[in-house]
This record gives sequence, structure tokens and C-alpha cells, in this order.
Amino acid sequence: MQTLSCTTGQPDHRYFVYIEKGITDLLYEREDVFGDYDHFVLITDKKVGKLHGGKVRRQLQSFNSPVTQITVDQGENSKKLENVQKIVEKMVDVGATRRSVIVALGGGVVGDLAGFCASIYMRGIDVIHLPTTLLAQVDSSIGGKTGVDLESGKNLVGTFHQPKAVIVDPLLLETLPDDILADGMAEVIKYGCISSSKLFVRLLGYEYHEDLLEDMEDIIAKCIQIKINVVEKDEKEGGIRRILNFGHTIGHVIETYFQYEKYTHGEAVAIGMYQITKMSVREGITDQSSLENLKLVLDTYGLPTEMPEMDLDGIKEVLFRDKKIESDILHLCVMPRIGKAEIVKMKREKAMALFQPDLDPIQETTPNA
Ligand SMILES: NC(=O)c1ccc[n+]([C@@H]2O[C@H](COP(=O)([O-])OP(=O)(O)OC[C@H]3O[C@@H](n4cnc5c(N)ncnc54)[C@H](O)[C@@H]3O)[C@@H](O)[C@H]2O)c1
Repeated sequence: MQTLSCTTGQPDHRYFVYIEKGITDLLYEREDVFGDYDHFVLITDKKVGKLHGGKVRRQLQSFNSPVTQITVDQGENSKKLENVQKIVEKMVDVGATRRSVIVALGGGVVGDLAGFCASIYMRGIDVIHLPTTLLAQVDSSIGGKTGVDLESGKNLVGTFHQPKAVIVDPLLLETLPDDILADGMAEVIKYGCISSSKLFVRLLGYEYHEDLLEDMEDIIAKCIQIKINVVEKDEKEGGIRRILNFGHTIGHVIETYFQYEKYTHGEAVAIGMYQITKMSVREGITDQSSLENLKLVLDTYGLPTEMPEMDLDGIKEVLFRDKKIESDILHLCVMPRIGKAEIVKMKREKAMALFQPDLDPIQETTPNA
């Protein structure tokens, strides 16, 4: 088992991330994590609940406190305020108190929704994440961001609420469909790009899916450690946390433009990472061989790189609604070489150049921003 610790700005808040194959079969042994609660509220989605909910619920019952399972539909559509209301009302009905805990069993959708409910129920109770997708294991369960979507956009309502613990079982990924695993691989590749050339090179070496899964415990631990290093320095995304957005600005536009139907998050981020790097090669920030290696690794995991055709008015509409664009400056993460990230600033009115390769967009670079 690998145990990582994450300390955040909230007074005295330190939590542990436990990573081990098969750890979800041994939850009943973890008195240290689960022993202190008067009620467990297990939140999951229909698919994950069916596959893995039973064994988690049975083990929580062994701690002699009531367990209430709340199951939402699978998919992004569950991340909505209507479900928040249903969940917190149900929690009142079953008598959950400030000493109760929400256990989030699922991908990023369940994690964000459950984390948000935990952050507001009786002004905040504990949440323990049991992430079940690769994206949730390496990314969304760490760092304390929670939230739900509004009609007008994704993640527009949310909080920062650090978990009490995160328990990561790489064996749960065995039931994940290939496309959802590939989606998470885009984030894993991102960590290699921004922080670890060693991880990046390792990812280039897997010929078979089975070999990749075999090594998943180490790979996940490496990614989580990178994310912890970043969020410990910048809990609320004012500075260095921006490097985690490598590929995400362009990716977000692509996802939103096609209304989340044509491209998955990972595919859109893959295109974003490749396209921003192509631009930074043109700007003389990145060397050509890093771009070629990035293409190679994205191809290896079946992730796309080509910018889709989009009309400029549509792009503008999405880009200028992005909550990450403050004032007139856009902060973009670029990769000078594999394993190193840098933030560059771009004037808001120039941002369209990201989607028009012949323009020259970058104004100024800020190393270690
Ligand atoms: N809070 C953060 O920092 C953060 C970061 C990145 C993404 N997110 C959010 O995460 C969400 C996306 O998360 P996701 O990609 O995990 O999607 P998801 O939660 O919708 O899961 C994808 C699908 O996989 C299924 N699934 C989950 N685990 C499974 C398993 N072990 N076996 C079989 N099927 C399984 C789910 O039922 C679902 O159908 C988005 O809402 C995004 O905004 C949050």
C-alpha cells in the first residue's frame, strides 16, 4: 500500500490518500478511517452501485452505525442542484448528524456531487472518497473541489471542501470500459507532461493494456503525488495550480462547443495539450521533439490530436464565458519540454489565435507562475 498525505490551508487539515490493489475488500479493517461516525451516507451511481456498491455497503455496516445508500443516475446529468436537494433532504430524513460521513463511491460525477453535499450539510460534514474511474483516482478526488452544473454551464456552483480520506483501489478500474479508461489516461499523460519526464517515458513503453493495469498502483500514486504537490502550494487556483490546466483551456472550448457529445473530456484535453504545444513550438518555447513525443504517447492511448472544425463565433461565445478567464488576461499552461510546465499570459482579445494557427498570440511568459 502507498500512503500519501496532503496538507491544505484549512487549519489543521491533513488527510491521507491510501492506494492499494484490492483495498476496497479490506475497508472493514479500517477502524482508523471509518470508526468514528454515527451514520454512513453512501452515495454512488446506478452502474457503480451495481458493480461495487454491495461490498462497500456490507463493510460499512460492520462498523455498527446505520448505512444509508443514495443512488443517482449515472452521467454528468446527475451533477445538478435538484439532486443536491434530494440528497440533503434524505439525509435529514434518515437522521444524519454533524458526526455522520458521506462516502462517495464513483467517478468524478459522484465525487463532485457528494463532496458538494458534504460541504453544505449542516454547514459541512466529512466526506471520504472511494474513486472508481481513473480520472477520479488521479484527479477529481484530490484537491477538494466540489460542484454541480447549471443549465448555463458546468461546475458553476461549488465549494472547496477537503476530504477526510481518499481510498484508491486500482482493481476497480478492471470493470471500466476502455473509452473511459482512455479518458483518464489523458490526465495521466498530462501529469507526465507538466511534471515528470520519467512517468512520460514509462507511458510510452506499454504495449499491452494488461501491463498498464498491472503497474497502475505506481502510476496512480505518482500522479496523485504530483497533484498533491501542486494543491498544497495553491489550494484555490490562484497561481501554480494553473499548471494542472495544461490542455484544458482549448479542451474546454472543444467539449462545450460540441455540447459534451462529440468529444469526451479526455479527448478534448488531449487535443488541447497537442494544439497548445504545437503553438508553443511555433513560439520557440518548446522543442519539436517534445511535440513529436507528445503525439506518440497520445496516439498510443488512442487519443485524438487534431483540432476539429469550429466556427469562430461559436468559439468566442464559449471562450469568453469561461470562468477561468479573469479580467483581460488568460493564463495558459505550456510545456517547454516534457516534464516541465510554465504559465504564459495572453491578452483576452488575442485568445482566438489559439484556434487560428497563423496568428501570433503570446504576450509574455512567466516562469514558475
Ligand atoms: N473536482 C475536480 O477537481 C474535478 C476534476 C476533474 C473532473 N471533475 C469532474 O469529474 C466528472 C467526470 O468524471 P468521470 O470521468 O469519472 O465520469 P463519471 O463519474 O460520469 O464516470 C463515467 C462513467 O463510468 C462509470 N463508472 C465509474 N466507475 C466505474 C467502474 N469502476 N467500472 C465501470 N464503470 C464505472 C460511471 O457509472 C459513468 O457511467 C465531471 O463532472 C468533471 O467536471 C472534477
